[in-house]
Amino acid sequence: MARKIASIKKPDPAKNSLNRLGLIDLLNEDLAREYQAIIAYVVYSQVIKGAAYMNIAAELEVHAAEELSHAITLANQIDYLGGMPKVTPRPVKTSDKAEDMLRFDLDNENETIRNYRQRVQQCEEIGEYALAEHLRKILMQEQDHQIALATALGVCPSNDRVAIPARRDDFWLPSRSGDDGVPDTNGTPRSRAAEGGQKARPGAPGGGPEMPRLLCCRISQTRY
Ligand SMILES: [Fe+2]
Ligand SMILES: [Fe+2]
Repeated sequence: MARKIASIKKPDPAKNSLNRLGLIDLLNEDLAREYQAIIAYVVYSQVIKGAAYMNIAAELEVHAAEELSHAITLANQIDYLGGMPKVTPRPVKTSDKAEDMLRFDLDNENETIRNYRQRVQQCEEIGEYALAEHLRKILMQEQDHQIALATALGVCPSNDRVAIPARRDDFWLPSRSGDDGVPDTNGTPRSRAAEGGQKARPGAPGGGPEMPRLLCCRISQTRY
């Protein structure tokens, strides 16, 4: 009986709704976001005032240079695909408040990351693996930007989460079935289930309560 040889499924651009022209348009949108980021970082890094913001201001200058390299990579790849790189940035917001500027940057980075994640997938679907690799490298730097901004703002680095100090009662993992390991006033571990409280996180190890320094609370359902 002849053995069936498993074949590697190759991407078929003809079967994909996204073609090269569509990808060029999407990359041009990414390029417009990169221009926006360059302008924002150049300006914000120079106008942010206050001792508390000096470190992040220096970091924004680094971001500006990295965004420029992203823009050059994108323009190069758009040209390679036979397109014309666009020349218009997305609008840049301004404010005289340092926190506002950092928030604008973080919002833009969140959107940029969301788009690059899609773009990597789209590139691979139509067999543009090298381009996907270029975008992965950009994506890594965008995530670094996101983390730097979120840290400066005191929020979690993604998903619109806010970092707040954890309290034992807010974050609970069971040390053993039916009890949360948190002693009551008599020193006896009390059962969260008996109190009708939070459920245990599925798959949580039973090695005792886990207590992170910061508890990340999702305040929106947005996923990136
Ligand atoms: Fe960028
Ligand atoms: Fe960035």
